[in-house]
Amino acid sequence: MIELEDLRKEFRTKSGSVMALDGITLTVPDAAVHGIVGPSGAGKSTLIRCLTLLERPTSGAVKIDGENLAALPEKQLRRQRHRIGMVFQHVNLFDSRTAGANVAYPLTVSGMPKAKARARALELLELVGLADRAESYPAQLSGGQQQRVGIARALAGEPSVLLCDEPSSALDWATTRQVLEVIKKVNQALGLTVLIITHEMAVVRQVCDSVSLLARGRITQSGPIRQVVTDYGSALSRELIPLAVTPVGQARAQLEVSFSSADFSIREVLKLLADLGGDTAIEAGTLETLAGLRVGRFQLVVAAEAREHVIGHLRAAGLHVAEPGAEPEARPGARPEARPGAEPEAAK
Ligand SMILES: Nc1ncnc2c1ncn2[C@@H]1O[C@H](COP(=O)(O)OP(=O)(O)OP(=O)(O)O)[C@@H](O)[C@H]1O
Ligand SMILES: [Mg+2]
Repeated sequence: MIELEDLRKEFRTKSGSVMALDGITLTVPDAAVHGIVGPSGAGKSTLIRCLTLLERPTSGAVKIDGENLAALPEKQLRRQRHRIGMVFQHVNLFDSRTAGANVAYPLTVSGMPKAKARARALELLELVGLADRAESYPAQLSGGQQQRVGIARALAGEPSVLLCDEPSSALDWATTRQVLEVIKKVNQALGLTVLIITHEMAVVRQVCDSVSLLARGRITQSGPIRQVVTDYGSALSRELIPLAVTPVGQARAQLEVSFSSADFSIREVLKLLADLGGDTAIEAGTLETLAGLRVGRFQLVVAAEAREHVIGHLRAAGLHVAEPGAEPEARPGARPEARPGAEPEAAK
């Protein structure tokens, strides 16, 4: 389990001070996969550096399995660091050592006999699907395979937490998927708690159980995928269900309708939208399956004079309707009750 309590990091520079982390409080439960997303400069790298205590936080606690690493003196900290495995954007394997020797390296350094370290390395390579490549050198492996060796190496010290800093941003999407599958597999096989820093929502969609949005050193939205994605209109919901941007003529109004299978039969919503009448067009739409929910976002274009009527009709049906560019809709927080007649989730 990872617990961050009111974590702050202030950098003092000649031109003033920067609050790179401004009171981060976050709990990632045992065996969960949590994603942290945020724009450039949000504090993602600083957060990772403070989590590993490569950078000392200005204040606050970094607890791994209940132990506050931020309070430990350097010597004890070195002993506790094995609790944390790190996977980086660039793997940095030793070119002159085989995959097996790369994974065994941290073990032999910490005093494990060579034969035992080699056997352990083989087990770990098997876990990441590379048992047959133990004798290969990094140059003989693809980028994705090298990243998997990096994951095996990160697991060598039997960490309880795996921190992944942009683990896939140097990879194409097909390879990214494989690497993420391996991360999910080790998460499940070893019960490892995983924190992934990423700028790709696709990564969050594929492996994360929960996600936080970091902006200017603060967490502005956080929660299980199911919860944030149905917080329609919120920053993370919009990013998780992206829509193409389409131009609209002046005499037309643009509306965005969001819904999920938690509250609606998708078939009924599609029928409702299709039946809106000749002058309403569906300009763009996304229907996705996320955290076991089917979630949809559709962009409608209606004649300006029909706008109010259409909004009223859709809201009366319980749908979330937003007008891009207009003031955000007041959200009392409660979602509409599931409607009678909505299909059971499996049937959707
Ligand atoms: N050593 C440092 N000294 C001074 N300011 C720093 C230092 N490291 C980071 N910062 C500042 O802290 C803020 C957060 O930086 P950080 O590198 O954590 O962002 P990031 O979210 O990782 O961005 P990116 O996506 O571009 O990598 C920025 O304003 C940055 O300029
Ligand atoms: Mg960074």
